[in-house]
Amino acid sequence: MAVRNDILKLLVEREEFISGEDISDKLGISRAAVWKNIKTLKEDGGIVEAQTNKGYKLVALPDLLKPEYLNLYTDKDAKLIAWMESVDSTNTYAKKAAREGAPDGLVVVTENQTGGKGRLGRGWSSNPGEAVTMSFLRRPNIRPEKAPALNLVVALGIAKGIQQVCGIDAGIKWPNDIVYEGKKLCGILLEMSSDMDSIEYVVCGAGTNVNQKAFPKEIRDKATSLRLIKGAAIDRVRLCAAFIDATERYFDVFLSNGIGALLQEYCSRSAILNNEVRVLCGNEEYIGACIGFGENGELIVKHGNEQRVFHAGEVSVRGVNGYV
Ligand code: BTN
Repeated sequence: MAVRNDILKLLVEREEFISGEDISDKLGISRAAVWKNIKTLKEDGGIVEAQTNKGYKLVALPDLLKPEYLNLYTDKDAKLIAWMESVDSTNTYAKKAAREGAPDGLVVVTENQTGGKGRLGRGWSSNPGEAVTMSFLRRPNIRPEKAPALNLVVALGIAKGIQQVCGIDAGIKWPNDIVYEGKKLCGILLEMSSDMDSIEYVVCGAGTNVNQKAFPKEIRDKATSLRLIKGAAIDRVRLCAAFIDATERYFDVFLSNGIGALLQEYCSRSAILNNEVRVLCGNEEYIGACIGFGENGELIVKHGNEQRVFHAGEVSVRGVNGYV
């Protein structure tokens, strides 16, 4: 895989034709190895022009979130990226890996989920290759009651990645949705194994709508994709790499300095701060103004003189007139 990475980097940097001989000289590998790797690149859907006497020219990279392609844009250790063409759920996979001893920092990525999970027992589905569905496995040395704050951390990472790659300023609807103009772009699902005092692992899954051109009737007024917003296809590989880097930077800040160090930025991205919200908790509904967020990632809502604190995981939030 290291060789494939080196070949890819050469092809990407060159932007023009590079001969097979040049590649094999530069990397100290055989011409047959060069050819074999170019063949895999093409099988993955990459477009490589080949001309006698001139060599190879990369026209387009594959639209696959394999570590070797992600590593063109992120320095994340490829051994800590688990890619699967298809899996039931990246969260379920990451939890199983965690139970079997996978290390802190594992990122699970797939092109297709056959049993994607949403919050509160709901499902999450997208067509193969259209979304970016991934899970971060972390083993943070924090108290279990602080774990819900990771919803906020991951939401910041996803919003930042979207901004960097697509130039779109998305908002965060507490605790776990990334939204744009009132429609959902991404959902986040945290799952944890802990005892009273310490966390064994947390799995933070994020599903982002990227290249969908349309949504089923039932969710059309609530969901959108980056492609629909931009009017053009989005480079999922760059985006996924940006999600990894940005989210890991926010994790680092959180683990060193606590959520307090991120709350100002979180508030500036909040789609509900200072708005009237409806908090749905089972059959109960509470309406009030969102006045802030707590140090364990809670939502603080005020109605008249009464102030209530809600924990992520037990409630949904809506705008008084709709989804946000
Ligand atoms: C929600 O909005 O209800 C949360 C949706 C979370 C979906 C992501 S996709 C990657 C990860 N794997 C899953 O099965 N779910 C999360």
